[in-house]
Order: sequence, then structure tokens, then C-alpha cells
Amino acid sequence: MKQVTLKDKTFKVSIPEERIQRVIIEIANRINEDYKGEDTPLFISILNGAFMFTADIFKHINFNCEVSFLKFSSYEGTATTGKVKQLIGINEEIKDRKVIVLEDIVDTGITLEQILEQLKSFEPANVKIATLLFKPDAYKKDLKIDYIGLEVPNEFIVGYGLDYDGLGRNLVDIYTLSE
Ligand code: IMP
Ligand code: MG
Repeated sequence: MKQVTLKDKTFKVSIPEERIQRVIIEIANRINEDYKGEDTPLFISILNGAFMFTADIFKHINFNCEVSFLKFSSYEGTATTGKVKQLIGINEEIKDRKVIVLEDIVDTGITLEQILEQLKSFEPANVKIATLLFKPDAYKKDLKIDYIGLEVPNEFIVGYGLDYDGLGRNLVDIYTLSE
């Protein structure tokens, strides 16, 4: 069993590279079908986690499209709702465009909700969500997720863009904590 140690924790492979790549092709095929003939949709990749998923899925997209990268600033304001994070990297190119958000993982859905909320003010024609991974048992929102690669248990995972304390993003497989 392939294992890796990152800082104080040891992880074992839970989703091998081949499975990840097969799932990515499945999502790409669905998107290709849904956006056939559309005028230059815009993919928006959420950094850092989605960089690897974005690179791999993009190779399988067969219509004319653009890609742009957004990141949440680490700035945390004080609002009654708690932490307020701002998306940075947004510009006017979003207005009236068909947008497909690319996420590595949707866990509670809090991040996704913030992304959708902030994108809305830039008046896209519509926004769809594609996530490689989804934790149904952790999900607290009822926002529709249009494309889900794999549902995973409510356990911490790392690799393929996902990190443990900054490490492990370079792993080609996805790992879970090893007991
Ligand atoms: P949410 O806001 O709870 O949906 O969390 C979304 C973000 O948390 C993702 O974009 C990831 O960056 C991070 N995250 C959630 N679950 C994991 C995990 O199991 N491993 C690593 N990062 C995770
Ligand atoms: Mg992320």
C-alpha cells in the first residue's frame, strides 16, 4: 500500500491516479455536451486547490473557451456573520458570460456559497459548478452542484491539489489518513 508522511501524519492512497483521470474525462464529456455551440464560456478555477484539476480537465474540453483563476484573499473582516473573505483576481470579463466554476472539493459548501455570492455582483449570464470531489455528509447548503466527479466520505484527504498544512498538493493520487 502506497503511503506518504506529511509533517506529523501518515496517509494511504484512497483514490488512485487512474480513477481520478477517468472521472475527469467523464466530467469533461458532460460539460462538452452541455456547452456545445456556446459562445466562449469562461472557466473560473479557484486557487489553490483546483489548479491540478483545472489543468487536467481543460485538456479534455473541446469547445472554444477561456480560463481565469481566482483566489480568496486571506483578509478576514469582522462582520456579524464571522469571517469575510474576498475573491481576488476578478475583472469585468465575467459580465454576461457563461461561467463554469472549477473547485477541487466541496465540503460544507461555505466556500462555494461565498464564491457564488461574490460572482453574482459581476453579472454573469449564468454560473455552473464543477467539483472533482464532494463530501455529501459534510454538506450544509442546498446550492445545486452541476458536475460532481466523486463523492467521498467525510474524512480528511490530501493530494492532487489538496493540501495538509500546505503540503501534498503535488501528489498524483488522493490519500486519506492512515490509522
Ligand atoms: P467548504 O467551504 O467547507 O466546502 O470547504 C472547501 C475548501 O476546504 C476546499 O476548497 C478545500 O480547500 C478545503 N478542504 C475541504 N475538505 C478538505 C480535505 O479533506 N482536504 C484538504 N482540503 C479540504
Ligand atoms: Mg479549495
